[in-house]
Amino acid sequence: MGFSKKLIITSLFASGIYGCGMDSNSSQNNGETDASNQQYDIDIWPKLNIKVKPLPSVESNIIQILSNMTIEQKVAQMIQPEIRDFTVEDMRKYGFGSYLNGGGAFPDNNKHATPDDWITLAEAMYQASVDDSLDGSTIPTIWGTDAVHGHNNVIGATLFPHNIGLGAANNPELIEQIAKVTATEVMVTGIDWVFAPTVAVVRDDRWGRTYEGYSEDPEIVRDYSAAIVTGLQGKAGKGFLADDRVISTVKHFLGDGGTVAGDDQGDNIASEQELFDIHAQGYVGGLSVGAQSVMASFNSWHGEKLHGHKYLLTHVLKERMGFDGFVVGDWAGHGQIAGCTNQSCPAAINAGLDVFMVPSSDWKPLYENTLAQAKSGEIPMSRIDDAVSRVLRVKLRAGIFEKPSPANRQFSGKTELIGSAAHREVARQAVRESLVLLKNKNNLLPLNPKSRVLVAGDAADNIGKQSGGWTITWQGTNNQNSDFPGGSSIFDGIKEQVENAGGKAILSPDGQYSNKPDVAIVVYGEEPYAEGHGDRATLEYQKGDKSDLALLRKLKAENIPVISVFISGRPMWVNPELNQSDAFVAAWLPGSEGLAVADVLFTNPNGEIQYDFSGRLSYSWPKSPLQATVNRNDEDYAPLLPYGFGLSYGDENLLGDSLNEEISDAVEDIQDRVFFDGKVHKPWEMALYSGAKNTAINANAHQLAGVSYRTIDRKVQEDSMLLSFNGSEKAGLRINSESNFREDLSAELISGAKLTFLARVTDVQGEVYILMNCEGFGDQAGSCESSLEISDALKQLEPGSWQQLAIPLSCFADKGIRFGEIVTPFNLWTESKLDIALAEVKFSVGSGEGAAKCPE
Ligand code: BGC
Ligand code: BGC
Repeated sequence: MGFSKKLIITSLFASGIYGCGMDSNSSQNNGETDASNQQYDIDIWPKLNIKVKPLPSVESNIIQILSNMTIEQKVAQMIQPEIRDFTVEDMRKYGFGSYLNGGGAFPDNNKHATPDDWITLAEAMYQASVDDSLDGSTIPTIWGTDAVHGHNNVIGATLFPHNIGLGAANNPELIEQIAKVTATEVMVTGIDWVFAPTVAVVRDDRWGRTYEGYSEDPEIVRDYSAAIVTGLQGKAGKGFLADDRVISTVKHFLGDGGTVAGDDQGDNIASEQELFDIHAQGYVGGLSVGAQSVMASFNSWHGEKLHGHKYLLTHVLKERMGFDGFVVGDWAGHGQIAGCTNQSCPAAINAGLDVFMVPSSDWKPLYENTLAQAKSGEIPMSRIDDAVSRVLRVKLRAGIFEKPSPANRQFSGKTELIGSAAHREVARQAVRESLVLLKNKNNLLPLNPKSRVLVAGDAADNIGKQSGGWTITWQGTNNQNSDFPGGSSIFDGIKEQVENAGGKAILSPDGQYSNKPDVAIVVYGEEPYAEGHGDRATLEYQKGDKSDLALLRKLKAENIPVISVFISGRPMWVNPELNQSDAFVAAWLPGSEGLAVADVLFTNPNGEIQYDFSGRLSYSWPKSPLQATVNRNDEDYAPLLPYGFGLSYGDENLLGDSLNEEISDAVEDIQDRVFFDGKVHKPWEMALYSGAKNTAINANAHQLAGVSYRTIDRKVQEDSMLLSFNGSEKAGLRINSESNFREDLSAELISGAKLTFLARVTDVQGEVYILMNCEGFGDQAGSCESSLEISDALKQLEPGSWQQLAIPLSCFADKGIRFGEIVTPFNLWTESKLDIALAEVKFSVGSGEGAAKCPE
């Protein structure tokens, strides 16, 4: 990696903002090592000049409170359950220090919950937490939420562009305002704390969370982190965490944006110096201005999960950098530490985690186990006291003990503030500044609003699609325009500008028209996704299904000038689409104020520019589908368009119409996709069904009317399963994506992969089928499904021995399955009697599987 470390560090010192004064007595190596015996170098890490200093009054208060707490009350401060899985009565009984709503979790499970419903829940939880009738504690609880682009779980909130667009805007003052607005809308609903900003520095754009990062380079991330944290919490000093502010979380510590191949929750193998220079800069920015919490990351560093990483959590973050707030875990992330489960994990606390984020009903056993471990000394009391002190410190600083209850705070219930005109104006500015103009042949833009404008593409009038993941629902899917009261689509803005000027705007998603338009604006791009669901094998746009390209081609063939407005959570390889566009705008994920796009595309009716393009790429734009790790300051840096690129009006156009459209490198890098090899790989889940019944599968034996399941040992313990069908009714085993989310497996199809699995059978009598489903799972099961009978293939296997079956994915594709939208890649069923053992279920890319044919 040709990153210039020197430069970054010097600029940090030079700016004097972060005062990275080295502390002389820690200049020798502290000799810490990890499992692989790697030596650490603590001197890489600066002691931060944190503007929020410990106050003697707060510290003595902490000691006082702590001395009156029982061990049960202490452990409860360290447990953070989720609103779908615990009740107000549980809060009264245990007195949890905090709780959360995950993405797509609402009061009463009601997506359309009103701000009053949110406050009602916040108030009830708060009152239960200070009610000492059961647990004896009166420490107020706090509620954390993912307000990552505005208060995005709440209907009607102002939704800002996702971070990738804000990075392109490169305007720290605007970012601070956005954070202030977000804090205000969060407080209207009675909530205290947000899980933002994400300060991942994204090095591989195949990662599904690329859009949650501001940039591939630490520069903007560091400045933004300081600005956002300040906007959320206020400046250190008098207004800090005052009544008009919320607690912030800098996340995910550390190295989330640098995993191998952009694998969500994967392994980061950067050197320690790179970890600091690249991935830690957001912490330098955010912690220096006083961020009060840090979220541990799902990823590993050199194979060791961050949730259990004592060196990074304790020695680096707390001791060396001087962070005195608390470290919260991420969504049962502790359960991924070797030797831990979601329900028991002393290792995380001992490594420096202070609060477990523990969704599902796991909170109860986790509470009980942690309590037992604290009592037995497996978790030292000093560690428990330190964790609780940190939680109390933050609560004291935030005035949680003195503030009125959630329903009675300054902004509570002021619903007029949610999505207010002033707030939307800030978002509108952000949208304008986030747009990056990549191509503008013959100065086609800006457009005259008096024209006849065809507006095509399926994202033109789709606020959900333009807002991306973390929008009302976790994945950002299943939203309608009516779920965004007060919001606007990109078409809404075009229509307004054009009609005000006397022109004509025609909405036609598929590009059909009756009178030939002067120009076409085509709005298209990625479907929403969040986290690992957005991981991709390559950056090719619409791999295997170039329907948007076909639309552009059709319009070009009709001699209509074409402007592409591209919606995406990452830079993508769109050379064919660029070639078919006269102008091309990277619009990222603009959020609820789609109308702002037209502010930049159109002049006013007098032909004067209203707003010029000022967005500049904060991510390099790739020149091939696999150029996913091209980053500013690389050696041999050769993207299609570099970091910092972006045209303004009048600039010379660079891109012609003949960019390379070959995709020779696209298929080589595709890896096997493993569904089951003893464990079920994320994002897949396994279920057994029989008749109408459906059971999720874990390692224990299961029995339904028509089938039973148990794990068996092939090479190692429990690496295989045995299914015994008794023939009494139709039954099967299904591998399904989590939340039935569509997974894009088209890269595997194109690379010629096969569905392979090891099977061991003795006597095959009746018919056995393998089925795949795309999109239409659930209500519309069968609307997109391919089924193949494999009975003959099974009969040909040598009885009683393990053998591999391989079925080309093309066999399923030929029967109509769409590999871009798979929800069930494997479903084996029968109505007959059958014993079948299965292992190694995957899509295999390798050539070693012989010349498989489609089963007849
Ligand atoms: C939750 C999200 C969470 C995710 C983690 C979802 O069910 O709603 O908030 O991030 O699970 O897997
Ligand atoms: C995500 C976090 C988020 C948490 C709570 C996790 O899956 O990684 O970013 O804050 O869920 O929803």
